[in-house]
Amino acid sequence: METSEIRRRFLQYFEDRGHTVVPSAPLPSPDPNLLFNVAGMAQFVPYFVGQQTPPYARATSVQKCVRTLDIEEVGKTTRHGTFFQMNGNFSFGDYFKEDAVKFAWELVTKPQNEGGYGFDESVLYASVYYEDDEAIDIWKRVAGLPDDRIVRLGMKDNFWSMGIPGPCGPCSEILIDRGSEFGADRDWEAGDRYLEFWNLVFMQNIRGEGGGKDGYEILGELPKKNIDTGLGLERVAYLLQGVDNMYEIDEIYPVIEKASELSGRKYGAEHEDDVRFRVVADHVRSALMLIGDGVTPGNEQGGYVLRRLLRRAIRSMRLLGYEDPSLVELLPVSLEQMKKSYPELVTDFGRISQVAYAEEEAFRRTLTAGTTIFDVAVRDTKASGAHQLEGAKAFQLHDTYGFPIDLTVEMAAEQGLNVDTEGFRSLMKEQRERAKADARAKKAGHADTSGYRELREKGVTEFTGYQELSSDSEVRGLLREGAVAPFAEQGETVEVVLEKTPFYAESGGQIADEGLILGDGLKLKVLDVQRPVKGLIVHKVEIVEGVLRPGANVQAAVDHEWRVSACQAHSGTHVVHAALRQVLGPNALQSGSYNKPGYLRLDFAWSSALDAATRSEIEEVANLAVRKDLPVSAQYMTLPEARDWGALALFGETYDEQVRVVEIGGPWSRELCGGTHVKHSSQVGAVTVTGESSVGAGVRRIEAFVGMEALHYLGRERALVRLLSENLKARPEELPAKVADLAERLRVAEKELERMRAAQVLEAAAELAKDPKDVFGVQYVGHRAPDGVNGGDLRKLALDVRGRMPNDKPVVVAVLSVNDGKPGVVIALNDLAREWRLKAGDLVRIAAEKLGGRGGGKDDVAQGGGTDAAGAGDALSAVEHAIGHQVTG
Ligand code: SER
Repeated sequence: METSEIRRRFLQYFEDRGHTVVPSAPLPSPDPNLLFNVAGMAQFVPYFVGQQTPPYARATSVQKCVRTLDIEEVGKTTRHGTFFQMNGNFSFGDYFKEDAVKFAWELVTKPQNEGGYGFDESVLYASVYYEDDEAIDIWKRVAGLPDDRIVRLGMKDNFWSMGIPGPCGPCSEILIDRGSEFGADRDWEAGDRYLEFWNLVFMQNIRGEGGGKDGYEILGELPKKNIDTGLGLERVAYLLQGVDNMYEIDEIYPVIEKASELSGRKYGAEHEDDVRFRVVADHVRSALMLIGDGVTPGNEQGGYVLRRLLRRAIRSMRLLGYEDPSLVELLPVSLEQMKKSYPELVTDFGRISQVAYAEEEAFRRTLTAGTTIFDVAVRDTKASGAHQLEGAKAFQLHDTYGFPIDLTVEMAAEQGLNVDTEGFRSLMKEQRERAKADARAKKAGHADTSGYRELREKGVTEFTGYQELSSDSEVRGLLREGAVAPFAEQGETVEVVLEKTPFYAESGGQIADEGLILGDGLKLKVLDVQRPVKGLIVHKVEIVEGVLRPGANVQAAVDHEWRVSACQAHSGTHVVHAALRQVLGPNALQSGSYNKPGYLRLDFAWSSALDAATRSEIEEVANLAVRKDLPVSAQYMTLPEARDWGALALFGETYDEQVRVVEIGGPWSRELCGGTHVKHSSQVGAVTVTGESSVGAGVRRIEAFVGMEALHYLGRERALVRLLSENLKARPEELPAKVADLAERLRVAEKELERMRAAQVLEAAAELAKDPKDVFGVQYVGHRAPDGVNGGDLRKLALDVRGRMPNDKPVVVAVLSVNDGKPGVVIALNDLAREWRLKAGDLVRIAAEKLGGRGGGKDDVAQGGGTDAAGAGDALSAVEHAIGHQVTG
């Protein structure tokens, strides 16, 4: 049975039994403690803990998950994959244990021709939490399992939580016995023979802090008893497809086949190669899904995981002997498999592949640049007799050349070295802590959200800012350092929550509104506005006057000018986005944006720089849309309706059931957006593109000014032109020719100067040749030329002096000059000097030592230099001394 069919049957089965089919949440986790969603229940946590009322009592989903704890283990054993899918059914205070078991058992054992999975009942087992007698009774009654096929296990196996504080509960799993070739009888621990594939969690408790699977405290009961189940889709697929492991299922194996075809190596021939094949297949698929959900390669967090996956896949292909760009071959194969369940990948593939291919290109450059450094580090390490590459080297490779540590470790191992990963990690930690401290200083957000949640429990704060800029409201509460406080006084900076507010909280790229909150004897200046938890708007304020207390009646007023400009900037962002896609094509999709009064910037998927003509064209399209005075409007609809309408959504965002779509000129621009906007495009005013740059592999950034700021920008440019025009005494339109002419004249003058300087240096030659010093019969000229003579001229001078000297005596000429602070030396000998066993190369080495550098060359002419100009005099006497030593010695 195909994986997509297993998935379809699951959703169908539960939909038929009253469950609402809920789409998978995007891979990036909304929980700051987790990078990616690791279970189907993640998006339902607020329902389990009673923070929000679920819109349905039963739900079912197939959740995309990525687990990253064991990336190094992928492929080595057959149990670790990074991306996987979890089918789940959920009950929010509706049915509990008995129905959960009944549903799971029926779907698993129902014959395939009746819509089930058709597992043979006689090889199925159930595990339960050791003290859950109720579950044992249900398995016997409902599934008819005999005692010896029900096993009691401890907390580690049969108590489930997300690994962080939150909902948890005892669980019960369905296991399949794969037969004695996979392990010993009744050995539940090893995990290969008795493979669990469906976990039914009886979600009824809350866990606290603490580590491991059994090292935490149970804090209490959830408000209701819930069900959360997870069926490992890939596991069921390999069981039903009669293959050995997840890498060989229909959704993954074709990538292995392609990799084998490209590399000419066989899967199944050698363990080492098999690991590489599996790494390639697993990581390519994970990367496809991650980029699909808006993750882009980077050096932090989720972006780093993606980068690592891509790089490991690429490198594994190289280790398989395939050196050409490989993603271009492999990604489309993965797409072909995954599109059956995720058709949106097809429409999105232009963007996805651009991001992936750009990363591969960057990595290939990294490998080329870093490999030389790596080789030197390996050589030095070996030369010093050590077997371990220093942590600092690994850190340098990582920091400067983007070498992930695992790559350094792998490459070092190929050279028989290990790496001081501890040293590396402590340097990384230092760096991260520095970055964190910076971030903390920037945003005084609080990790502990309990204070916010307390205020949120009193209801959603109403946002009135789409209709009005000033609202009468009541103070719901205030927080000091994240904790709810009874009052605050003049001069303090605190956070305040109102029942309703016209202040826009920073989101969707738009920064927060500015303005004042006024009450009886009370004046608050709004510094920032955020939504730290869903449904709660929090104003960070400075108390300019009065005492702030909950219950006070206030008037919240957004600064009018500020808001007008903010609307211009946000609508301008949509206009520029639409213009970009009109000029570059639909792949140039926005991946992030930021706008504030007068200014906007937008990051978009594109891998090459935009030339001046393209930039002008984008500007032209944007300004034409402004001139057409297109109407701007917002409407609410469901997410599928919005998609059908062609509205652009940001990847990786979680959207509510009802979404807001902002249109400019009808279909000309439709985007999902909660921001504030102008009413007609002409109100945006002028749009001036000021820059375009790269912000990472496959992502470019365009920046623009709008409205009055655009005008001010143009004004500054005009002033600049006027200044140039006055200084250069040319009309503005003559400036380019004038500057080109000046540059050309400068070039000619510099050349002439150089020629004259060389002539001057050489003029000294005749004088020098006349006045050598006799050093035990050797005619020695040791001369320090004026500063600024380059190596080429020094050489000419040395040869010229030597040419002017008589040939019947041995001659040594040494000339030296300090150029740009760096001393250089050239030494030339005639034939007779060489017959006296003098060598230019040796003498230069002696001179260069005094200059703190190196040198070398042939016996007749040699050149060297260093960094220590103060050693110039010593260098010339050292040469003289060495001559004497050689001749007399
Ligand atoms: N949350 C449980 C798991 O991930 C069941 O869905 O195993």
